[in-house]
Order: sequence, then C-alpha cells, then structure tokens
Amino acid sequence: MDSFEDDLSVSRRDVLIAGAASAAAAAVTTEAGAAPAAAAPTANASGAGTEVVLEVNGERRTLQLDTRTTLLDALREHLKLTGTKKGCDHGQCGACTVLVDGERINSCLTLAVMHQGSKVTTIEGLGTPQRMHPLQAAFVKHDGYQCGYCTPGQICSAVGALDELRRGIPSHVSGDITAKPLLSVDELRERMSGNICRCGAYSNIVDAISEVAGVRT
Ligand code: FES
Ligand code: FES
Repeated sequence: MDSFEDDLSVSRRDVLIAGAASAAAAAVTTEAGAAPAAAAPTANASGAGTEVVLEVNGERRTLQLDTRTTLLDALREHLKLTGTKKGCDHGQCGACTVLVDGERINSCLTLAVMHQGSKVTTIEGLGTPQRMHPLQAAFVKHDGYQCGYCTPGQICSAVGALDELRRGIPSHVSGDITAKPLLSVDELRERMSGNICRCGAYSNIVDAISEVAGVRT
C-alpha cells in the first residue's frame, strides 16, 4: 500500500517537474532568439472576422463573424433574434430549426459563412402576436406547447414540412415514392420526428399542424 502511494506521489511529482521543466525550456528558447511557437490562427489580420451577408426575415444584415460561428449563434448572439432556441446544439432536438431559402434546417449544425446571401426566416419573421402565421395561430388554438421552448423550432419545421408535402417530396412512410404523398397524420408525425418536445405536447402539435394542412385527425 505504502509503496503504491509512494509510486503515485513520485509519478505525480515527476509529471510536475517535467511540465515545469518544459515550460522553462520554452521560455529560455524564446529568450535566446529561437523561432517562437506559431501564434493561434485568427480569422483575418485585423481580427475583425469575415463579412457575412444574410437576408434575415426580409432584412439585409451584414455581420463580421468568426468563420466558426454557427448560423444559430449568428442569429441569437449577433442579431439578438432569440426566438430560435438552442436545445442540444448537436442536431438532435430541432429546437434551432429555421428556414434557409425555404428549406428547414438545424441552424446549430451549419456555419453562418456557408449561407452567404441566403434568405433566412426565423420565428420572428413568420408572424407577430398581432398578425400570427396560420401555424402560430393553430398552435395557440390547440395548446401545441407547454413550456414553449421547442415551439419556434416546431413551427418553423412545420412550415417546411408542409411545403415539402406540397412539392410532393416523399418521406420514410410514403407508400409510393413516385406518387404525391398523402396528407395524413402518419406523414406529419414522420416529417416532424426531428423536433423533440420534452413536455410531450405531441398530440396537440399534430392537431395544430393537421388543421392547417387540412388533414383529418
Ligand atoms: S439545438 Fe440544434 S438540433 Fe438541438
Ligand atoms: S413545449 Fe416544452 S419542450 Fe415542447
């Protein structure tokens, strides 16, 4: 037991000594005029970032961004459009869904710089409390939410899903992928399956979307 503890303390001491020694060696090397370690990369020489132009909710917005900025962070942190939510930040919950050039997309999984010149629609661009989008009004009517955290993503996703149905894009549950998909609850559930609701408001969400889509529940 004692020798094991001794071994542990020795190895920890060794590690500390080795770390301190290498830091000192690095300092000596730099002072001696040898080439310093490469500086961390920056977005550009001025440090101002890269210019990204987006049309957000019908308005042209110019941003200076680190190229690693996700579209979600560009919307929330830079444009202060906090209607779009960050749930998992890993493409697993759908809370961050927005429309880019009419297609629904998980904004946490894409870089803003990849959408130069694109048209981005967030929940703020769909409607206002005074003039709600039909899906927003249907979610209110059918209590399609409880805490509301997933709701902006659900509604943006539903807008995209109904457009996909209109365009005849098949889903995993479409019986015949060469035919126009049926307007059915199964189709809606499948197409909305990437949007998680931790409150479990699924049946009311389906009722809301079904009403707008003209699907009988
Ligand atoms: S925050 Fe983007 S999918 Fe969860
Ligand atoms: S309403 Fe709370 S997570 Fe969906």
